[in-house]
Amino acid sequence: MTDRGRDLTDPDWWRTAVVYQVYPRSFADGNGDGIGDLAGLLDRVPYLAALGIDAVWLSPFYPSALADGGYDVDDYRDVDPRIGTLGQFDALVAALHAEGIRIVVDIVPNHSGSGHAWFRAALAAAPGSPERARYVFRDGAGEHGELPPSDWVSHFGGPAWTRVPDGQWYLHLFAPEQPDFDWSNPEVREEFHDVLRFWSDRGVDGFRVDVAHALAKDLSEPFRSYPRIHRDVVAVDGTDPLFDRDEVHEIFRGWRRVMNEYDPPRSAVAEAWAPPARLPLYARPDELGQAFEFDLVLEPWSAPAFRSTIQTALDRAREAGASSTWVLSNHDIVRHASRFGLPDGTDLNAWLLTDGTEPACDLALGLRRALAGTLLLLALPGAAYLYQGEELGLPEVADLPVEALEDPIWERSAHTEKGRDGARVPLPWTTSGPSFGFGQGGSHLPQPTWFADFAVEAEERDPGSTLALYRRALALRATLLEGEGVRFVDDRPAVIEVVRDGGWRSVTTFGESAALPEGEILLASQPVGDDRVLPADATAWLRDPA
Ligand code: GLC
Ligand code: CA
Repeated sequence: MTDRGRDLTDPDWWRTAVVYQVYPRSFADGNGDGIGDLAGLLDRVPYLAALGIDAVWLSPFYPSALADGGYDVDDYRDVDPRIGTLGQFDALVAALHAEGIRIVVDIVPNHSGSGHAWFRAALAAAPGSPERARYVFRDGAGEHGELPPSDWVSHFGGPAWTRVPDGQWYLHLFAPEQPDFDWSNPEVREEFHDVLRFWSDRGVDGFRVDVAHALAKDLSEPFRSYPRIHRDVVAVDGTDPLFDRDEVHEIFRGWRRVMNEYDPPRSAVAEAWAPPARLPLYARPDELGQAFEFDLVLEPWSAPAFRSTIQTALDRAREAGASSTWVLSNHDIVRHASRFGLPDGTDLNAWLLTDGTEPACDLALGLRRALAGTLLLLALPGAAYLYQGEELGLPEVADLPVEALEDPIWERSAHTEKGRDGARVPLPWTTSGPSFGFGQGGSHLPQPTWFADFAVEAEERDPGSTLALYRRALALRATLLEGEGVRFVDDRPAVIEVVRDGGWRSVTTFGESAALPEGEILLASQPVGDDRVLPADATAWLRDPA
């Protein structure tokens, strides 16, 4: 264990943290029912400690009908009984903290689940009642109110409005089981302040804020036409009817005041698909502090693309007084070991519809690039967000049988999008046994036989494995990081060379090999010979000569 960041009283820990995302239903299953749970996670705390992460980000574990993998929350103050109990949650916090690992929980404030007590009360109450005013209920358009009140669309397909038996319609920017709150209602604001306190009081160190840019909406009538989903914001001045509106920042200033009631203050990171220039607004010190940078997720494997995206992200973070966030994978996107093995410009959705056969994915190439990319990002100032399984080099499971799919996208898109389940298949821990050691029973999404090759057990035996490289990299990073200073050596078009405070640097090659500069090689994602030539699609870290 290293000292850096392990001091749980440090208020700035999040600026440079390595945060590991756990998708709880697919991490480890303690009771053999095929669904990952807190007991399983608790058992794996030693694994997380050995990996060398600074924090866990726990995706939703709340009671949920699972209409959207838990992002349909029925009770913000409890644990889903299939996942565990509040007592186990407390035990998890204690176990992580004992290892110097912090815990960040997902908060889903745009919508609840349709089983939430407030939504059930709203359905039972009359139009115009205070119960309905916590959500967005409206009369329909058309002569008899038979048409949705506006042309707004659900992210998962179809209209964003669903009609209830008394004839009114309610708004859901995601699945119908995810009714949107009306954030202009003070009761909603108070409720979430309370939820933040509930988890902060239990020792939670920070929050990941789901679709943060969607909370404030222009609900004045007549509704404006806006048939777009949350990733397609148009206006760059905060005047879109549904997303990235200026008023959203008042909400987060209120959250910051609550989070600052704690010592150390609780951290937060926004999932905000705002226009790039407006992303820093969410990360201001009097708001959430950090906002995810997703631009790299959309970039092809190319030095110019990576260089400019990294530079922009660093500039944006500086502008906000924040620190940047590096992300290559999460539970919503095709795993980057697969993405980087596909030809540039591949339509990932179309690729998934062919079960990952068209075009062919070069997995060996994808993994080389993935490792190189990860080591590059770990060498930058800012926080790195890792997604469970990437430390094993796991590819996407692109050929899940459609009967097994859980993501609402599959049905709601009328089978034109397979969705995100291929990144959510339960992890392989052992090379054999039921569900490859995920649990004593099955696995809620089927695991392919090749998962055995990526099992923790196999990789722990192999000093050349992806897991071994991640462990070495995280341990080393903890000793190397010093200050936020960074400089790029820009003389080679297919190389990104990053010079860091404290006398070390990172060199990444894109598509061709390159001679390494002088200095001790601390770590490399591919073997480097005596000629000190770094192979193509690799990263090496070096200590500068004294
Ligand atoms: C976020 C989550 C995603 C979820 C959506 C609705 O984008 O990351 O998984 O489906 O919000 O809550
Ligand atoms: Ca279980």
